[in-house]
Amino acid sequence: MIKVDISNVWGQIALPDLLAMEKEVAAAHETLTDGTGAGNDFLGWLNLPVREPTEEIVRIQNAANKIRGDSDVCVVVGIGGSYLGPRAAIELLQGPNHNMGKGKGDPQIYFAGNGLSTRHWNELMRLLEGKDFSVIVISKSGTTTEPAIAFRGLRWMLERKYGTDEANKRIYAVTDPCKGALRQMATEEGWETFVIPPSAGGRFSVLTPVGLLPIAVAGVDIMEMMNGAADAKESYDLRSFENPVWQYAAVRNLLYRNGKAMEIFESYEPGFKMFGGWWQQLFGESEGKDGKGIFPVTAEFTADLHSLGQMIQQGERNIFETMVRFDAPEQKYTIGSDWKNLDGLNYLEGKTLDFVDEKAFLGTLAAHVDGGVPVIIMDCGELNARKVGEMFYFLELCCGVSAYILGVNPFNQPGVEFYKRNMFQLLGKPGYEK
Ligand code: PA5
Repeated sequence: MIKVDISNVWGQIALPDLLAMEKEVAAAHETLTDGTGAGNDFLGWLNLPVREPTEEIVRIQNAANKIRGDSDVCVVVGIGGSYLGPRAAIELLQGPNHNMGKGKGDPQIYFAGNGLSTRHWNELMRLLEGKDFSVIVISKSGTTTEPAIAFRGLRWMLERKYGTDEANKRIYAVTDPCKGALRQMATEEGWETFVIPPSAGGRFSVLTPVGLLPIAVAGVDIMEMMNGAADAKESYDLRSFENPVWQYAAVRNLLYRNGKAMEIFESYEPGFKMFGGWWQQLFGESEGKDGKGIFPVTAEFTADLHSLGQMIQQGERNIFETMVRFDAPEQKYTIGSDWKNLDGLNYLEGKTLDFVDEKAFLGTLAAHVDGGVPVIIMDCGELNARKVGEMFYFLELCCGVSAYILGVNPFNQPGVEFYKRNMFQLLGKPGYEK
């Protein structure tokens, strides 16, 4: 079980206030699981975890095995909820440099269609030169501009390289079961398709083919991940303050009521950055509405202690932190000795890098708490595929409960349409004339 340690928040909130929230938290949890709250047609994610592979999971694994066998590179096209989850899992488990040294048999994975940068596109073109590749295109609506533009270009490249028949065997579409342009194209061209259940919104879809197919291509055991999520579904159904879901959801709301309007979700692992990005979308899109919401920020320590550290320590006191911890890996690095000791590091001779990391964590924790920044610690234990599945489900549950405590609909994102409307008008998209 993930442990939530709230012992470093008491300078800012009081235990009686937290305990007084019991009924509120219980009601929010019940509203979520009974499906009686706002957005209740988007609760399909609650029941996604399975212990045994479904027919679709078997197809996902077969498709992943084919891509692993016939491609040096797999390009995953998608944005937002159709992108962040798989990238989060792959980078957390395999590190930010996961593509290094990979090729056919264990392909490199690149992400496209998550922006409109020509530089990024040009770089992808260079990366694909002379490589065998396949494309996984993910879009629930099937009409999102950024992935649609990238996919059009990649599809054309596949056709030019392999001819239409082979190109069509290298395209995998993950989309709505019936609606949208992508579904229609896939049906007409005969691409292999996987379904995003209409009842699972984008940011809650990582345990559908959206996440599972790219993660399986990366060689991660997706059934281990699903079992981790199934563990979470059982463990975190507890209806009391012993449930870490309750602790996290209640404490962050209480801190918000006490003026802490910004949360930094952080870790000492560089591979955590994209997981932080996934969390940022989950909480940001779910809670940021009706003039409310905690602004979600992600950070990597110790790197960001040398950039954000000053602000956290002495800037505006509207911040709290959630520190995600993992067990240290088995393979250690021990600091050696240097007879000249010009760098002055001999006092650390024989100590492991983990030891130094732990002291950095403890020192930073004490400094930030002393500086008026409460810190919630989320201890996740061993980092593996099963744990990542558990973390996804756990945080989705926390998000649903927390948003209902806040009094917003966690499952819509009406604000996202505003930039699109302006952009379409500027682009002259039919139907968007002034
Ligand atoms: O959470 C969401 O719903 C969004 O971030 C979407 O996932 C994102 O806009 C991509 O949408 P689509 O999958 O329809 O292309």
